[in-house]
Parts: sequence; C-alpha cells; structure tokens
Amino acid sequence: MERSDPVPRITVVGTGYLGATHAVCMAALGFDVLGVDTDAVKVAKLNSGQVPFFEPGLPELLSKALDSGRLRFSTSFHEAGEFGDIHFICVGTPQQQGSDAADLRYVESAVTELAAHLRQPALVVGKSTVPVGTAARLTEIVQRVAPAGTDVELAWNPEFLREGFAVDDTLRPDRLVFGVASDWAETRLRAAFAPVIAQGVPVVVTDLATAELVKVAANSFLATKISYINAMAEVCEAAGGDVARLAEALAHDERIGGRFLKPGLGFGGGCLPKDIRAFAHRAEELGVGQAVSFLREVDDINKRRRSRTVDLIAELVGGELRGARITVLGASFKPNSDDIRDAPALDVASSLHRLGAQVTVVDPAALDNARRSHPELAYCADALTAAAGADVVALLTEWNEFRLIDPQVLGAVVAHRRVVDGRHALDPVRWREAGWEYRALGRP
Ligand code: UDX
Repeated sequence: MERSDPVPRITVVGTGYLGATHAVCMAALGFDVLGVDTDAVKVAKLNSGQVPFFEPGLPELLSKALDSGRLRFSTSFHEAGEFGDIHFICVGTPQQQGSDAADLRYVESAVTELAAHLRQPALVVGKSTVPVGTAARLTEIVQRVAPAGTDVELAWNPEFLREGFAVDDTLRPDRLVFGVASDWAETRLRAAFAPVIAQGVPVVVTDLATAELVKVAANSFLATKISYINAMAEVCEAAGGDVARLAEALAHDERIGGRFLKPGLGFGGGCLPKDIRAFAHRAEELGVGQAVSFLREVDDINKRRRSRTVDLIAELVGGELRGARITVLGASFKPNSDDIRDAPALDVASSLHRLGAQVTVVDPAALDNARRSHPELAYCADALTAAAGADVVALLTEWNEFRLIDPQVLGAVVAHRRVVDGRHALDPVRWREAGWEYRALGRP
C-alpha cells in the first residue's frame, strides 16, 4: 500500500465530552482538525466558540483553536471522508435499555457512515469504550463499505480522560495505548501523537483486543478500589471504626496508594458504572463470567452506599422522611462537571423525594441538566437560600464552594443543625464545634 503522509489531517467523529476535547486538543497540538457530529446545534455552537458542556479550560482552548484556523466542525461525513487521513471515532457507548450490555448503535452507524465516504487510504481509530471484539467486527464492516476497501484500516486507541481534567489528560496522558493490526497503523498513530510522545509519554502497542480490554480493565480496577474502601466503610459502621482514618493509614502503603481510595457515596458518571456492567456482560458472553463476577459485587457495594445515605438522612430526622426539608448540596456525579449521568447525588435526592421529603438541590454547574432529568425536585443556585429552614443538609458532591461553607453562617439559616457529609469533605471537628450533628458513612 502506497500511503504515507508525514503530518496527518485529522477528523474526530462525535463531539461530546471525549470528541470535542480530543478535536480541540489535536488542533492545539498543531494538527488540522475537522470535528463531525450529526447534531447540527452542537456543531453550530462549537463553530461559534461555545463548548456545550462544562469543562474547565476547554472554552479558552476552543477559541484559540478556532482563531488559528486549524479547527472547524461540520455535520458532513462526506467532508470528513474527503478531509481526513486519520479518523477518530469518539461517539458514546451508553448502557442498553433493559440490559447491562453496551449500546453500540452509535459507534456502528458512525463508522458505517464514515466508511461510505472513504475513497483514499485512511486509518479509522476507535476511542469509544467498547466490548472486546468490536474492533475486529468493525474492521470487517469498514473494509466492506469503504470504496477504498482494504486500504482503510482500523485501530483502537482507548481514552482515559477524566471529566474536569479532560484537557490536561488529553495533552499529557499517563500513557498512550495503540491497538493496531499493522506496522503502518502504528506509524500513523505515532505521527498523530508525535507532540505528545515527544514529551516522554509512554506508548504501549497492542493488538486490537488488548487495547479494547485495557480501557475496561482500568475502569474496573478504579471502580473496585472505590468499592473496596466503601466495603470497609460498611464494616467500620458495624464495628465502630472510622473509615477515613483507615483509608489514610492504607494510603501510606505505596503498593496501595491513596488515589481512588476515598470512601463516601461512591462512583457514578457516564463511564465507571456502565463500563463494569458491560464488561461483566461481555465476559459472560465469552464464557469467562466467573473471572469478573466480583464486578457485580463492586456494583452492589456502590449501590448500597446510596441507599445507606438515604437511611442516614432518615435517621437524623427521627426515621420519618415525609415532610422533612432536606437540602442536597451537589447534583453532578463529581465536582467540576455538569454531567449528571448516573449521579449518586441526584439518585439520593430523588429517593428522598419519593419517600416524601421536600428536597432542594444546589449545584454550581449541573442545575439545568438536573432539572431536565428530575423535574420533580426543587432547585436553587445558592446554598444559603436553599438551606433556609432545612432539617438536614446533605453534602453529596464535593464542590469546593461546598467544602468552604462556614458552618456558623449556614447554621444561622437552617431549622436544625444536622449535616450528612456524603463525601467526607467537611471537617467534623469544626462542624461539631459549630453545634452541628455531623454524620458520615463509615465514621462514628
Ligand atoms: C473515569 C476514569 O477515571 C477515566 O480514566 C475514564 O476515561 C472515564 O471514567 P470520570 O468518569 O470522569 O473518569 O470520573 P472519575 O474521576 O474517575 O470519578 C468517577 C466517580 O468515582 C465519581 O463519581 C467520583 O465521585 C467517584 N470517586 C472517585 C469516589 O467515590 N472515590 C474516589 O476515591 C474517587
């Protein structure tokens, strides 16, 4: 195959959290980039310099990239096919309705639509999180549909970015994983990431299946670590221990480490929960379900944290939630994000509401999204206003502005000084000194 161009032109298909960040960062690294999305509203927004979601640092970088003339967005797959040498697939793979499996329809349609316009040699690179085996199946589809046939190859380059740190994680990742089927594909990927590799970022080259597995293995490990410490919290609750001190002591062991060992309400978001379920489901299909059956337990431990938080709030109001006024601090699945997918905070808020409590939710970034998905709840932009007359304040997403709340000032507006610290983000001594009844999962 005669196909070598030193500086590849790049397209990014799907401009959600992953794709928009990838497109902007690739342009910032000096490449000519075309972002493609079927959502014309999103495309228009991005072309006018607006990021359709909350991500620190991204709006500034988008403006710069647009000004440089190296980045634009389009709804046309035809344009993408004409323009790109390397096409990154960044569309979502949510959980299927009524199943634990990943829903691959967006990946399949993006790849098929793009392939129909590939008339010249090209590399299609999957970044979305998919069940192992998908890349092999997509290769077959791409080469069948593309006019360029087997001059189009598929590779897998899983993405590990965290929301809230997406720009940094993309420009300076811990590692790059290139799942490839040929030396040519590896060379092309090395060209696409040359500025990142030049910073000394390690590259791990694998086959397609291993690259697909790296992503789910990484997220499963992280989810397991969180559920591990939350399981210890359950034991602490029964035994009268303090899981915060326990975690601190474990973290000093370098083999264990303190990251992702933070106990509390547990994990949510658009990745960890659905990825462990899809992985368990895929492993069962492959006949190795037993090997990762512990992921079901990891999921169950995580869900129990949510119901236990509801119980703790109920305990504080004497067991009867009906009519109790609860202020929930936080809606997003974690701080510095407006993402409410599988958000533990909103899940708890809506359970409280179902049990008859009057719930007001406060969040610095996610109120619009929360309102759309949970119109039954009351919302407020300001914690002090929301907490007026509250029977319990529950901190469920540890935004910095909630950590910094003065317990005296908040104490002056509530009906009862009772706080549930769902994220171990407050100083119990300070809050107790200010007259609050302080409760946290896994702490005495
Ligand atoms: C995650 C992975 O970290 C990232 O590598 C992958 O690409 C996508 O999925 P993200 O979903 O953005 O990223 O969030 P992350 O920072 O991993 O947090 C996930 C959830 O775990 C959050 O709800 C967070 O509150 C919770 N968490 C995290 C804990 O409960 N305890 C911890 O110690 C760490």
